[in-house]
Amino acid sequence: MGTLLARVAVVALAAAAAAVVVDGQMSPAFYDATCPALQSVVRRGMAQAVQKEARMGASILRLFFHDCFVNGCDASVLLDDTANFTGEKNAGPNANSLRGYEVIDAIKAQVEASCKATVSCADIVALAARDAVSLLGGPSWTVQLGRRDGRSASQNAANTNLPPPDARLADLLTRFSDKGLDARALTALSGAHTVGWARCTTFRTHIYNDTGNAAVDAAFATQIRAKACPSAGGDGNLAPLELRAPAAFDNGYFQDLVARRVLLRSDQELYGSGVGDGSTDALVRAYAANATLFAVDFAAAMVRMGNLALTGKNGEVRLNCRRVN
Ligand code: HEM
Ligand SMILES: *[C@@H]1O[C@H](CO)[C@@H](O)[C@H](O)[C@H]1NC(C)=O
Ligand SMILES: *[C@@H]1O[C@H](CO)[C@@H](O)[C@H](O)[C@H]1NC(C)=O
Ligand SMILES: *[C@@H]1O[C@H](CO)[C@@H](O)[C@H](O)[C@H]1NC(C)=O
Repeated sequence: MGTLLARVAVVALAAAAAAVVVDGQMSPAFYDATCPALQSVVRRGMAQAVQKEARMGASILRLFFHDCFVNGCDASVLLDDTANFTGEKNAGPNANSLRGYEVIDAIKAQVEASCKATVSCADIVALAARDAVSLLGGPSWTVQLGRRDGRSASQNAANTNLPPPDARLADLLTRFSDKGLDARALTALSGAHTVGWARCTTFRTHIYNDTGNAAVDAAFATQIRAKACPSAGGDGNLAPLELRAPAAFDNGYFQDLVARRVLLRSDQELYGSGVGDGSTDALVRAYAANATLFAVDFAAAMVRMGNLALTGKNGEVRLNCRRVN
């Protein structure tokens, strides 16, 4: 019942915001006249995908992040490599790791069936990521729409802009501030790791070797080593980024940071690293103590990240998300 009420409130908010135009180009009402069924089509596609495999909610959320951090949320991450085109799918952070492309294809096909050549792939990913979070029990928010699809992609930008799993706090702060996202947005958005899974290769060094300010809780390290990550081999073995409830979008991740029970060094850097002004430490404690505060800040930060967009007459509305028109 609470969820239903929350949804009703969000719908009312969307209607109230209909006249508001962000960045001169984007608006929640962008497709109201041209594709009124859009949001229900995306929601249904995501509900089916998450029901089939809960992890897909996490995968689509990550897809949106990896799109937005490389030349903006322009669906560049969806372009397939061809003989004469190198896209982002095989960049280091994406290869054998990023997933959910088929889910976006299926939703795009359904959107095209009712609204031909109207809705960008970038907007579909933005809506799908919002729905993924709410389907996993997290907050919902009104999505600004009107993004255009890029006509290019950059494997090099994907390799350099996406943070590696051993990134230090100063590096993370810089990468996010380069996108107009402050320490609060960095900390809130990192809370996405309350859902989903990671491969042993991304966290082996952290759970075997990190000490001092990056030390891992000993019992947790023992458990993960035995269950999912031998000191050699098993690179592709998966472990949940948040151990207790990897399919529930809650604030458990922040409690894990405080307890030093997380897989990624980059995550632990937000708490107890002993460098910087301690602002991320204070936010981690606040989010660990108050799930509502995390939900509110996460939703706001997702909107901000989603505003890194190509709009107006730039780019195009792709017919097939995997190739430019
Ligand atoms: C702050 C810097 C970040 C770093 C260094 C980072 C790194 C990683 C790594 C290494 C993985 C595991 C990938 C694999 O083993 O295949 C992962 C998974 C994931 N990331 Fe991040 N990430 C960051 C921020 C974010 C943000 C901002 C979001 C979304 C808002 C996000 C969402 C996710 C999700 C949901 C997964 C699980 C995906 C799945 O299960 O398919 N991450 N991340
Ligand atoms: C690139 O390859 C595709 C087929 O994969 C072809 O249709 C297209 O004309 C080629 N473009 C250029 C500029 O060579
Ligand atoms: C841990 O450190 C030792 C000593 O430097 C090194 O030999 C080993 O490869 C490291 N293991 C991992 C998993 O990083
Ligand atoms: C938790 O955060 C919400 C949102 O900022 C706030 O309204 C509420 O008062 C906080 N709860 C507590 C117990 O501090």
